[in-house]
Amino acid sequence: MSNARIGIVTVSDRASKGIYEDKGGPAIKDWLTRALTSGWEPVARVIPDDEHQIERTLRDLCDNEGCCLVVTTGGTGPAPRDVTPEATEAVCQKMMPGFGELMRAVSLKSVPTAILSRQTAGIRGKTLIVNLPGKPAAIGECLDAVFPAVPYCVDLIGGPRLETAPSVVKAFRPKGA
Ligand code: MTE
Repeated sequence: MSNARIGIVTVSDRASKGIYEDKGGPAIKDWLTRALTSGWEPVARVIPDDEHQIERTLRDLCDNEGCCLVVTTGGTGPAPRDVTPEATEAVCQKMMPGFGELMRAVSLKSVPTAILSRQTAGIRGKTLIVNLPGKPAAIGECLDAVFPAVPYCVDLIGGPRLETAPSVVKAFRPKGA
């Protein structure tokens, strides 16, 4: 069986210029490595906070790289160059607002500034795209919260069957799915 491909996109002007090391992308990869027991491979990108470049990268990972899931980190705040949610919405046919709602609710228990995150999720073709905040510490918290619903979502859009380690995250599938 061929591996599921998962896009990991770090959206950061400074990380893309090498001003600091990208910690978000590796944090996502580490979390997925612990969580997934079915075969998968990462397709990682580090790009600046440029709306067209984000859109191009998301389209490429969905349409050419065949990713069933794309996770972004960064660019979800209120600053002028925070445009990841806009780029996500521009490439998706369907928005999945529950992801952002749940991640903000969970993050608000740690920091009041979680209200500043506009993170969202959506479907492009056979790909689920999920935005996470840029702070590496927020990545595990947010993935822990939303990932139980991700494998079934990927099933429903025609992607590969993702299996998880129950000690890390319990994937929920309705009976019979
Ligand atoms: N969520 C968690 N769990 N922990 C955090 O520290 N930081 C917030 C928020 N969500 C944060 C969080 C802050 S300060 C901002 S501005 C927004 O995420 C957006 O961050 P981003 O622009 O790096 O995506």
